[in-house]
Amino acid sequence: MEATTKPSAEQVEREIGEQLDQETFDPPSGFRDKALIGDESEPEAAARDPEAWWAKQAEALDWFEEPDQVLDDSEAPFYKWFVGGKLNASHNALDRHVEAGRGDRVAFHWRGEEGEERDVTYADLLRDVKRLANVLKERGIQPGDVVGIFLPMIPEVAVAMLACARIGAPHNVVFGGFSPDAVKERMEFSEAKGLITVDCARRKGKAADIKPAVDAFLDDVPSIETVVVVRNTGADVPMKEGRDLFYDEAIEAAGEDCPAEPLDAEHPLYVLYTSGSTAKPKGILHTTGGYLTGVAWTTKHVFDLKPDEDVFWCSADVGWVTGHSYIVYGPLMCGMTSVMYEGAPDYPDKDIWWELCERYGVTVFYTAPTAIRACMKWGISHPQKHDLSKLRLLGTVGEPINPKAWLWYWKLIGGERCPIVDTWWQTETGHIMITTLPGAQYAKPGSAGKPLPGLEAAVLDEEGNEVPAGEQGLLALRRPWPGMLRTLFKDDERFKETYFSKWDETTYFVGDAARKDKDGYFWIVGRVDDVVNVSGHRLSTAEVESAIVAHPRVAEAAVIGQQDEDTGQSIAAFVILEGEDSEGGEALEKELREHVAQRIGKLARPKRIIWTADVPKTRSGKIMRRLLRDIAEGRELGDVTTLREPGVMKDLEGKFAGEEE
Ligand code: WT7
Repeated sequence: MEATTKPSAEQVEREIGEQLDQETFDPPSGFRDKALIGDESEPEAAARDPEAWWAKQAEALDWFEEPDQVLDDSEAPFYKWFVGGKLNASHNALDRHVEAGRGDRVAFHWRGEEGEERDVTYADLLRDVKRLANVLKERGIQPGDVVGIFLPMIPEVAVAMLACARIGAPHNVVFGGFSPDAVKERMEFSEAKGLITVDCARRKGKAADIKPAVDAFLDDVPSIETVVVVRNTGADVPMKEGRDLFYDEAIEAAGEDCPAEPLDAEHPLYVLYTSGSTAKPKGILHTTGGYLTGVAWTTKHVFDLKPDEDVFWCSADVGWVTGHSYIVYGPLMCGMTSVMYEGAPDYPDKDIWWELCERYGVTVFYTAPTAIRACMKWGISHPQKHDLSKLRLLGTVGEPINPKAWLWYWKLIGGERCPIVDTWWQTETGHIMITTLPGAQYAKPGSAGKPLPGLEAAVLDEEGNEVPAGEQGLLALRRPWPGMLRTLFKDDERFKETYFSKWDETTYFVGDAARKDKDGYFWIVGRVDDVVNVSGHRLSTAEVESAIVAHPRVAEAAVIGQQDEDTGQSIAAFVILEGEDSEGGEALEKELREHVAQRIGKLARPKRIIWTADVPKTRSGKIMRRLLRDIAEGRELGDVTTLREPGVMKDLEGKFAGEEE
């Protein structure tokens, strides 16, 4: 057979240029014909009676006791779903499939950074989950006790999450890229009783000490009575008698039998910290029945998954909600085979993702626009080296996708046969909210699409009136949904204040600006609060500011997100030094970036530091970030007369004029 000739980079570039004006992309007919949802009947049924429709979707789960009420809104905004029902997440993820004779099915094709491979089946997971759950129980961990998880992308992370779920101990997973300080803070806030971590983590050929770094704070967090350490690299690490256990030894010694605890539908499944408008991260609390219903439905229908045929790969990290919902809970709930990759997209080489797609026959691939833009930069030769013909559907999440990146993904990865679902959602929403049903609805590059069945979204003005089609306003969700956060961990007041005080207690304030076009498609513009989205990772300007200010030489800092070609947004910090000197110089710049990496994590390092003698503030002393953004992005400045010291802007502007040259 003759190999088809591959288009050159110039050819691809030209074709993308020609297609930039194409507004809509219909589901390719080869896809539509076999899609689980091929028309609008499902959204229509849901619109007629959303509660009844959700109740039907909850039947996809295995309940120990059926719920007797779908939605209890008597204490809005503290909604309850599937009241009276009892179930267990780990039973639904594992036992159910094993009992049905699917124990030998691979749950994860795991691939390590150095090319190691492990196929972990549903039966493997269940055996280890039961044993680890027994270990936790023996250590006195009870339903309701929080267990921290700080692990890299290894199968044990799924085991750890599900072992917690099995005994009703909400987990608190911290992204592996966060610093020990950030882990400590999240353990303190959640009053964690235990921590599951690792000896060392690998990143691009290097090993980073994790256990020793965690040890540095463990004595200061007395609530943590048990530390389970997974031997990942096998490095020699200090262990504290009576508190620390090696994972392999502990599960080896533990009993094999551990029935899944029947838990209330509203039993907390996990807390996951995310950034808000203040320096203190918010502990998003998700519960069991509603969350699993929403996650299971969206996994299956947004990604059109058929468990006997598909291999799914969500390239996120389990430390983010995307990993919770679409690496662990959703795919396992649906009995899928997935890929889990430990490493970075450019290690050992820039074609590793496509190599893995080919090797494991990935059919549905889900990633972030920032990753697609990185691939574009690396060039078309990397995907062209591999056979990607098994792929049939692609997805994106985390930030708006620019049409050029959309087209690149469509052509180079999807071979123009795979629909692309742009999925909008948040840590708070638990699961995908706005997207296109790939077999039923056309895609518009740059728009996320429409609210999924059973959901209602709107673009409102400050007063809560819907703005006309095409105009920008504030995105709102107007009806409770099963996977919604129930509260902020131990902070009901802040929950109400943040999400349900802008308009009323039935209208959820998203924090994104958006437009809805005449076809009902939503175009997400970006955050309206002080949250920055760097490569799809959410950071709070206040959190970064407080990290910078903690440096002894810094008097004050103002942090903004500025537009960035690669990462969507990047962090720029305006820094005022102590004393006379206003210029910090290169060495201090490096030191500050390192300082932020240590306090929060590398992802929070400012890309740009701007030394300044002052920052613009309102008369009441609030930093005017809008003006700083205008300056950083070279925009015309609006009215500055309300500033406390209007002269500040002149100095800063002068500085930027100099820098741009
Ligand atoms: C914020 C939520 C949900 C997992 C990833 C991030 C932005 C998310 C999209 C999208 C435009 C998006 C929003 C949202 N966002 N998906 N498809 N198009 N913007 O979760 O860290 O909670 O961040 O990410 O601004 O509010 P998160």
